[in-house]
Amino acid sequence: MRIGISTGGGDCPGLNAVIRAAVKTAVVDHGWEVIGIEDGLRGLIEPNKLITLSPARVRDILTRGGTILGATNRGNPFRFPVEQADGSVIEVDRSDEFMQRIKDLDIDALVFVGGDGTQSIAWRFAEKGLKVVGVPKTIDNDLAATDYTFGFDTAVNIAMESLDRLRTTAASHDRVMVLEVMGRHAGWIAAHAGIAGDADVILIPEIPYCVETIAAHLTRRRRAGISHAIVCIAEGAVPVDGDVSYIESAGAGTVARLGGVGHRFAHALEQHGDFETRVTVLGHIQRGGTPTHFDRLLGTRMGHHAIRLVADGRFGRMVNIRGTTISDVPIPDAIGQLKTVPPDGDLVAAARSVGIHFGGRDSSGG
Ligand code: F6P
Repeated sequence: MRIGISTGGGDCPGLNAVIRAAVKTAVVDHGWEVIGIEDGLRGLIEPNKLITLSPARVRDILTRGGTILGATNRGNPFRFPVEQADGSVIEVDRSDEFMQRIKDLDIDALVFVGGDGTQSIAWRFAEKGLKVVGVPKTIDNDLAATDYTFGFDTAVNIAMESLDRLRTTAASHDRVMVLEVMGRHAGWIAAHAGIAGDADVILIPEIPYCVETIAAHLTRRRRAGISHAIVCIAEGAVPVDGDVSYIESAGAGTVARLGGVGHRFAHALEQHGDFETRVTVLGHIQRGGTPTHFDRLLGTRMGHHAIRLVADGRFGRMVNIRGTTISDVPIPDAIGQLKTVPPDGDLVAAARSVGIHFGGRDSSGG
């Protein structure tokens, strides 16, 4: 048996744990060969981008962030970006070419490690007859079919530590320090990091924020003697009367990039009172570096389970975790379903109970 493995979408802490566990399980337990495909699936059609992954090749990668295979979010074979003579870029369906290449390489099954987009690609190849298994990945933790994805815990810890550090300047200078974190259209990173990092205000896409309400809340705090505040804002947060902030719209083979909401919010807050704000955009710092123990463990368990699915011939399935149990679901049940923070759930309720404001329009903070 010869299996392929690729990591699609953005890089993420814990990907190397998946690769290592999958390779060791496949080679040591089953005696199979594992081919690593570099740069998403691009490695199938570009020269010198296939590596035989032996246990020796994956030694010492567990502690490393990112992915030894490289990743790209510009390599969807069904919407492949192709540059035209005039410099413009169009999307072309090159999936048959990729499929042929997989056959030529005698790859019996392919493990797709990636987020929602990658799992959708995996399923489209499954429909073409490829034996596929999916492993979910995203720091955003926004896939409905799994309770957690690796990368999330690392991102939250980095954001939490950043909030701890921002508190110093907030308190010293009586400022409102705003930290913008990632998460696309889900507020998981902001909510978890904000609660753990003792933020005073958390703004998430699930609860549109009202600047007037937040300004009134901070003014009340100031009257009570607390003149500084920490705001943790998700990049996908939206004002009650506005839209998501983007810094780049979707192009051929690319998705829209979020960003700018931290500055937008801080500017609006300064218009509503005597607040001195400073904004930190955490950016890719929260996606980089060594994974936490949780992400190393989750990646290892998921990589191992992916190979068990292949060994059992249970294709077209994506690994997941429910509670503390690693399991799997049919890929079609896993794609296109965003998991968002329930505004009425226990997470938000617990945060409110310790005095965190969510910025919603009503005076309780939405
Ligand atoms: O989906 C993971 C993520 O880090 C999002 O939180 C963020 O919006 C996006 O990827 C950033 O993508 P890129 O690395 O392409 O800028």
